[in-house]
Amino acid sequence: MRAVVVEPPSPGASVRDVPAPPDVPGGVRVSVVECGVCGTDRDIAGGKYGRAPAGAPYLILGHENLGRVAKVPAGERTLAPGDLVVATVRRGCGRCRFCAVDRSDFCETGLYTERGILGAPGYWADEYVERPEYLVPVPTGQAGTAVLLEPLSVVEKAIAQGEAVLRRKEPTPGHPATGPASALVAGTGAVGMLAVLALRTRGYAVTAVDRHGDATAAAALVQRVGAEHVDVAAGLASLDGREFDLIVEAAGSTALPFALVDRLGRNGVLVLTGIPPSGLPPAPLAEGDLLREVVLGNRAIVGSVNASRDDFEAGLRDLATFEARWPGSASGLITERRPLEEAPAIVADRAPGSIKTVLTVAASASPPAR
Ligand code: BGC
Repeated sequence: MRAVVVEPPSPGASVRDVPAPPDVPGGVRVSVVECGVCGTDRDIAGGKYGRAPAGAPYLILGHENLGRVAKVPAGERTLAPGDLVVATVRRGCGRCRFCAVDRSDFCETGLYTERGILGAPGYWADEYVERPEYLVPVPTGQAGTAVLLEPLSVVEKAIAQGEAVLRRKEPTPGHPATGPASALVAGTGAVGMLAVLALRTRGYAVTAVDRHGDATAAAALVQRVGAEHVDVAAGLASLDGREFDLIVEAAGSTALPFALVDRLGRNGVLVLTGIPPSGLPPAPLAEGDLLREVVLGNRAIVGSVNASRDDFEAGLRDLATFEARWPGSASGLITERRPLEEAPAIVADRAPGSIKTVLTVAASASPPAR
């Protein structure tokens, strides 16, 4: 079968003919329909992240996916050939209490694997085999947007983490709950944009910032869903000192997170989702009044990675809500669909203005990009 392979830590990706995965007991064979490209894939192809499976010469890249069930094991009741599915990414360590209850996104040992990222084959290939508990069924009507489900699952978890912290201040005795408040999203790539949609759906007043000017597809979509777009190419001073209850960082920049603490209101929470490259020189953490502001304002900084199956299922419901409320808002994040063969060039060079590039794997994929 065709697969996009990398040999971490060597940079570079290539399309190769590799053996199809063997059947495993209880495994479902899935034909890949299409896959998303994200910054993690670019980091792995750049030799900055990723690990091949133990003993394997290469890693099949790719973790954002949509596939169609080709074959089910005898006795399988939840899935049938032809069903659309999205596979989750992380597989548990088999040792800790979180992995024991299928919450490997909170793995305590760090010995988990991630398909297409760390020690397990990914989805940029014609086929994969996976156990049904890791496959989330997708209604046919959502075929056009379901490739966004994996990044949306990351957003679902991140917002849930932030809201868990915000619940500290609700309710105040004698006062009604204040409910969703103000949110800042830093970064308007796919994760940032999905965060904008999810937060608007939950009733937040949302401001999204990036450094790309106001004439982009992302800026237009931000405004269409009733959020505000602010270009911060000149710095966060462009926010005029405004403060937010919940900040979602989705830019993966190293300098930005600490600057964002300044924009956090009292009792607010900053959730970090971007993964900066490793090996950077240490940065001074307690610059300025950072720690003082965090403590004196009960401010929280929370990292959030990966997602649970529940987050994927919540994401499916949200994807339907986005499209119902703002038709084209989710599908419009897919700015281009390109054939799998172009993956090596696509991971080497990000197209300017693109939000989500999707690789078409099966001959008859989902509807074309809008
Ligand atoms: C993926 C997550 C993964 C994380 C860290 C992200 O790009 O979406 O599933 O846990 O990278 O490897």
